[in-house]
Amino acid sequence: MKILVCTDGSEQSLKAVQKAADIVADIKEAQVTVVHVEESISHPYEIPSREHSPEGHEQLEKEHKKVLAKAQKVFEEKNVKAETAVKQGHPASTILEMASKENYDLIVMGSRGLGGIKKLLLGSVSNAVVQEAEVSVLIVK
Ligand SMILES: Nc1ncnc2c1ncn2[C@@H]1O[C@H](COP(=O)(O)OP(=O)(O)O)[C@@H](O)[C@H]1O
Ligand SMILES: [Mg+2]
Repeated sequence: MKILVCTDGSEQSLKAVQKAADIVADIKEAQVTVVHVEESISHPYEIPSREHSPEGHEQLEKEHKKVLAKAQKVFEEKNVKAETAVKQGHPASTILEMASKENYDLIVMGSRGLGGIKKLLLGSVSNAVVQEAEVSVLIVK
């Protein structure tokens, strides 16, 4: 069983990591990949952000590696070997493309992420993935 765990570094996504680790600990032959998608594509109308300067980008990359290492540790503590991957692009479409191209059986993600609108049940990324994925999606609340 191939499992794709998605993290943006948010508390909610780390809860998803924890939940995935708890579940997967009992599944033999589970193959886990923890992915973070870097939103590096900038739009002309976007407010300049850290991602747009080379130093800012480098700094963000370091932060992402830290998040993935942290997630990997959570799995290790359950004796589950997890790979990590950093991808670039639009988070939802990148997750969907990866899941279908690499034949994942399950996608695990948090209900919300780093975004701000707390009254929504699902964030934009989890909403799009749940709607469009061809495989099952576990949304961790
Ligand atoms: N850039 C990303 N890379 C990988 N996973 C992501 C990314 N952004 C969001 N996710 C996953 O989707 C979940 C929901 O986040 P999201 O839909 O972006 O909510 P919000 O609108 O609150 O930011 C996160 O907990 C995480 O599991
Ligand atoms: Mg988000």
